[in-house]
Order: sequence, then C-alpha cells, then structure tokens
Amino acid sequence: MPSEKSIYAPDKTLFKNAYVSSFADYKEQYNKSIDNPEEFWGEITKQFHWETPIKYDNFFRYNFDIRKGPIYTKWFDGATTNICYNVLDRNVRNGHGDQIAYYWVGNHPDDYSRLTYKRLLEEVCKFANVLKSKGVKKGDRVAVYMPMILEAVIALLACTRIGAVHSLVFAGFSADSFSERIIDCGAKVLITADGVWRGEKFLQLKSICDQAMEKCSKHGHNVDCCVVVQHLCRVTSPNRMQEHKKVYMKDGRDIWWQEAVADASTSCYPEWVQAEDPLFMLYTSGSTGKPKGVLHTTGGYMIYAATTFKYVFDYKPNDIYWCTADIGWITGHTYVVYGPLANAATSILYEGTPFYPNNDRFWEIVEKYKVTQFYTAPTAIRALMKFEDDLVKRHNLSSLRVLGSVGEPINPEAWMWYYKLVGGEKCSIVDTFWQTETGGHVLTPLPGAVPMKPGAAATPFFGVQPVLLDESGKEIQGEGEGYLVFSRPWPGIMRTLYNNHDRYESTYFSKFPGYYCTGDGARRDADGYLWVTGRVDDMLNVSGHLMSTAEVESILTEHRGVAEAAVVAKPHPVKGECLYCFITTTDQVKFDAKLLQELKHHVRERIGPFAQPDVVQNAPALPKTRSGKIMRRILRKVAVNDRNVGDVSTLADSSVVEQLFGGRPENA
Ligand code: WT7
Repeated sequence: MPSEKSIYAPDKTLFKNAYVSSFADYKEQYNKSIDNPEEFWGEITKQFHWETPIKYDNFFRYNFDIRKGPIYTKWFDGATTNICYNVLDRNVRNGHGDQIAYYWVGNHPDDYSRLTYKRLLEEVCKFANVLKSKGVKKGDRVAVYMPMILEAVIALLACTRIGAVHSLVFAGFSADSFSERIIDCGAKVLITADGVWRGEKFLQLKSICDQAMEKCSKHGHNVDCCVVVQHLCRVTSPNRMQEHKKVYMKDGRDIWWQEAVADASTSCYPEWVQAEDPLFMLYTSGSTGKPKGVLHTTGGYMIYAATTFKYVFDYKPNDIYWCTADIGWITGHTYVVYGPLANAATSILYEGTPFYPNNDRFWEIVEKYKVTQFYTAPTAIRALMKFEDDLVKRHNLSSLRVLGSVGEPINPEAWMWYYKLVGGEKCSIVDTFWQTETGGHVLTPLPGAVPMKPGAAATPFFGVQPVLLDESGKEIQGEGEGYLVFSRPWPGIMRTLYNNHDRYESTYFSKFPGYYCTGDGARRDADGYLWVTGRVDDMLNVSGHLMSTAEVESILTEHRGVAEAAVVAKPHPVKGECLYCFITTTDQVKFDAKLLQELKHHVRERIGPFAQPDVVQNAPALPKTRSGKIMRRILRKVAVNDRNVGDVSTLADSSVVEQLFGGRPENA
C-alpha cells in the first residue's frame, strides 16, 4: 500500500493543456485569489450576465467574528442577475443551443434520452409558466422530491427562473422526514414523480408524498399543489411481474406534469434577483435532532459552482462529464446541475445503481459515452472493488482523464484501486473535501497542477483560507493536527440557516470566534498538504450520508420499549461507518428479536433506509460519569471490541464496561 510519502504527479501528456498546469501556476493564482479577490473573481464574473452590474467598491463584505456583531457574508451585493438565464439563455446565445446538456441514462439499459441546451431552455420556460400559474412567486419555497430524471433538473431551473427557492429532499428520505422539511420551509407546492426503479427496487414516490402531505395537514400546513411526473409508463420495468401500481391523484391538488406543460408557453422572461437573494435551501443533519436548512444565495454560489467545476474537473469543450451523486444532495445541486451547466458542459444523468443489471454498469456507461470526468463516492468505490477486476478491465475506459471522490476521506486502498484499475495510472484523482454548507469544493488538488497523495484533500481552492486550530483556539503553524476552520468567506459559502440565524451563528461561528468551523479535523503534513481526518463532533457518515448520533438516539427513544439509547459510529468496510446502537429497555419490555426489528424499522421510517442501524445491542446500563454524561469513548471501544478503554476512573459504575463487552451481539 502507498505510504504517506507516496506521491503521484499528474500525467504530463493528459494535462499539458490543463487550465492550471503546474504547482507554481496554482500557487500564483491562489495567491492572487487571496491577495486581490476583487481582481481574481472580478475577471470571472465578467463572463456572466448581470442585469444590474457589480459595483467594485462593494465587491464583498463579511463579518466572521461573533464578538464584533452578527455574522454575515455578502458578495456582489446590489448587482442583479438570474442563474437560470446564465446557465441556459447565455449558453444558447453563445452558440451552444444544439449541444447536448444531458444524456439521460435510465435504470434499465434500454432506456435513454438526451436534451440539448435549446430544448432544456424551452422545457424550463414551460414549467416555469406552470409554476407561475399555480401562484408561485419570487421568494416562495418549492419542495422537490424527485428521482434522477431530466424533469428534476427542469424543475430546479424553473424555480430559479422565477426567483422561487427550491428545497429538494433526497428521494430516499421517509415521509416523516420529508413532511418535517416541507413544514419547516413552508412550501405550498411540491414536485415529484409517480415512482422510480432503482435496480430491482421499486419506489412509490407519489405515495410517500401523499403520506408526507397528510402529515403536513395534521400539523396545519397544507400543500396547495403537487405536480407529478408520469415516469413509470415510459421506462422498462426490470421486473416483469410488476403489478400496475395505480397512483392516487387528489382532485384540486394533484396535477400531472405532462398535462400541465402541454400548452404552456416556451418563453418565460427571467426574474432578475439580487445577488444576495436566496437561490435554494437544502437540509443537512445537525448535532441536535432538528435538520438545518442550509441557505445559499444567487450570485456567489453561481460564480463558485462555475469556477470549481471548471478548474477541479478541468472541463474542456467536447468533454463528457459524469457525476453519479443524487440530485437530492449538495453534490447533485452543484456538480450535476449548476456547475456543469454554467460551463456549457455535456453531462450524464444516471437514474440507476452501480449494480444493475450487472456490477459493471458504471464502467459500461463510461465506455459507451466516452466519459472524460467521472465523479463518485468512496463508498461506491469500495463496493465495486469487491468484485473481480475483470468487470473493470473488460471495458475501454481510456477516455477518462479526471476521477473525483467526495463524501468522506478516501482510504488509500480504495484510492489505489481507483487510480490503477479505473484510471489506468494516468488519470488524476481529485479528492474533493467540501460540505453542504460550503456550496462547492474547498479543499482539493487541481488535476493538472497538484501532485496527489492517496487520501489527502491536499490544497485549498482559490479564495479559500484554511486554518488548523488547537483546542484553545490557537493557530497551528506547519505540521500538526487540529480543528479545520476557514478564516474568510469564499463566494459559495452558505449565508444562513433558513429562519434560524442564531443557530447558524452558534453552530458554525461560536466555538472559535473569527472562523467558520467545519466540524472536521485535519492534519497538515511536512509538505503542507491537508488530510481531513473526519468529524470531531457527534456526527456519523454512513455511505456519505451525514447524520448525528443525537438524531438517531432521539428517534430510538420514541419507542415505548426504549428507556435510553446511545449511538456511536463503527467503522464499516464499505459504508465507511455504520450505526452501532446501545439500548436500555424499559422495565415492561424485553430485549428480543421483535424489539430489534421494530427499532430498525422505526429508524427507517423516521429517517430513511440509509439510516438503518447495523448493530443494536442490549445495554442494561450505559457507561456514565458521576454527573450522568454518557462516555461515548467507551461505547466506541465496545463497538469495535477493543478492550483498551483507557481511563475509566470517572465512571459512576465501572462494572458496566465488562457487562457491555460481554453483551456484544453475534453480528457485531
Ligand atoms: C462532510 C460533509 C459535500 C459533499 C457531500 C457531503 C465529509 C466530504 C470529504 C473528503 C474527507 C469528506 C466531511 C464533511 N467529507 N468530502 N473528500 N474527505 N471528508 O456533504 O453531507 O454536507 O457532508 O462529509 O466530514 O464535513 P455533507
């Protein structure tokens, strides 16, 4: 395996025409972005359309220091624009009208289609007119619960065209989670599809939406209109036994997408919005149970999505780019929709899974479409590297130049497999560290310029100033490990949490005044490379899905049989981490197979299938300090069966530790 000293230089022939083609060049541009942000970003903003121009004496302003007043970030304040106009009309005007914006690849290999920039613009205008006819206005929130189909992109862009704020919820979240998010953002209009096949699994999206809308009504929030894409009738079912599922449509509330757009006009004048007007919100887990509505605004996000996409993937005309992330996550927002479109890129939008119909589906698609940039998650790479190498080798993957990784630290084994087998030892791997909150990549090597180290997110992107702090808040210079924070805003950073600026300030800016705190730890090596080591708070990262231990604990304790619950992350060979839950039952209830099933089911129901616990252990007592605080450090040791628990002198009852080790279930 590669050691920390292993270093891989970008391939000279592949990257001789890269936008940034040497480390010196990267350094020079980086320094300019830090020393003279007005000039650096100013040149980029000129390529975009601003209805009211940017004032250079008001280019950007911010306060990151809670002691000096409220936290804020403003870029290009006072300028007006429209992101939909910039990613569609502007490209059509520049001659990209007949270029493919998306190749849509269905779950079933017989299903595929394509959409040019010109057609995409027309479809967006049509749907924007439908939204308008339903009373959607500038600033209104629209909830979206969609599979990976072209209408998902169309729906988002239609919102932004009329200044509405989209709020996507990943179509893997349960009705409970979805309803909570609809109520929180106050959406009156919902967009979904009848259903979708993912591999051989069928998801009845509309019926999940029905349940969600019902739950909303019970809380006094009514959705006025639900637009439903008729998708199932146009795809090949992987399962011939499928009964024809009837979709319930409520009179006066639910409408079919296809019928609604049928006679809508193909033109719709864009709504010019302020650079600092909200663009979209997206929920992310917080360390308390309630999800946080991360809010991004228009001008800065647009410029940052466009710039990171261009440089990090080194996207050139005629390249075919593919990001496998679901549109329901930030990666889908920035690097399936806005970043690629802002660069007039041609992308693949894939509906299915890596494993259907066979475990080489990804490589089959790369070969068929001659993909040049491929962007996926370590958990997918680890799942795929379990199969025989031939599944990769039988495909011609020589079109590839850049391989991306996102979602969690990539382990060196997975990195090497990706580099050697998929990339043929010539592609650059960009290990992109970022968050829902950061809007776009903040740490990543640039593929033509920064030599790679397996597992290191390496270097800051333009405009980003990372700092490592020790526990006391002191900056760590040179080699060392500490809290990863940023000392100034880049254009794409989130501006607030929806309706909760206090929580924004306390979550991200209060621990270390003067800095944005990521919640991750990182190490700087002797070469100045940054290695993200993972969360420092009580967050878990299961297959790239972030959730908090507190969130899962509070859901477990909803069960009448649970008196107390503690959840820790346990390392998992494919998922990265999985949930290990300790349960103290109430006196009336026995810990048995039935309870176990009920608890797993309950977590799926309340959060979504991806949150299902792997291990649930009966814990007659939890390791607590005399003041009653659960010592999670010990639970993490029990989860991995490591008896080196360290100092237990602060425990109220140290015999609990032995009991827990003795009570580990067989599947643990
Ligand atoms: C958290 C953010 C934005 C991408 C999708 C996840 C972890 C993400 C990396 C990476 C190490 C990473 C961090 C971060 N993370 N990418 N390349 N190396 N860790 O978005 O759900 O907001 O999660 O994912 O812990 O804080 P998210």
